[in-house]
Amino acid sequence: MINRDCAQMINAHLPLELKAQHTYLHFALTANTMGYFGVETYFNAASTEEAAHLRKLLAFLNDYDMMPEIPAIDAIPSGGMDIRSMFVQALAIEQTVSASFNAILDCADDDCKDFQVVGFIQDMQNKQTSGEIEIRDIINRFDMSGSNMPAFDEYVGELAT
Ligand SMILES: [Fe+2]
Repeated sequence: MINRDCAQMINAHLPLELKAQHTYLHFALTANTMGYFGVETYFNAASTEEAAHLRKLLAFLNDYDMMPEIPAIDAIPSGGMDIRSMFVQALAIEQTVSASFNAILDCADDDCKDFQVVGFIQDMQNKQTSGEIEIRDIINRFDMSGSNMPAFDEYVGELAT
């Protein structure tokens, strides 16, 4: 059994992972239409990773008999978006995910003293941090690429393989 308050906070976190999964799928499709096939590969892989994060959190709750609710989220609006804005938005999404993990850790560590939750969420948060660093690096690489977009696209695609 895990603490009920912690379980509720993890439940409240689930839509963030789902939104990331759907947004990255949208970015992959958009990148494809623009001819950025490396960026498409990157965001398809990122979307698959987000699906795995969601499944991991669901399984954790389920394993402790806290039957989770599969959340509904708003549709991702279609429409034009440039490549840099995709990564800026991806960074914002991941920062929101990190803030939510930190809030769960705060609650689990200080208030509930539920160290099962601390260990589990801390592990996810550690991977989260390296993901954010990678997106920051991509934005920096974009800014120094000038007009050499094919090289940028190839660099991003290789990160996913
Ligand atoms: Fe995630």
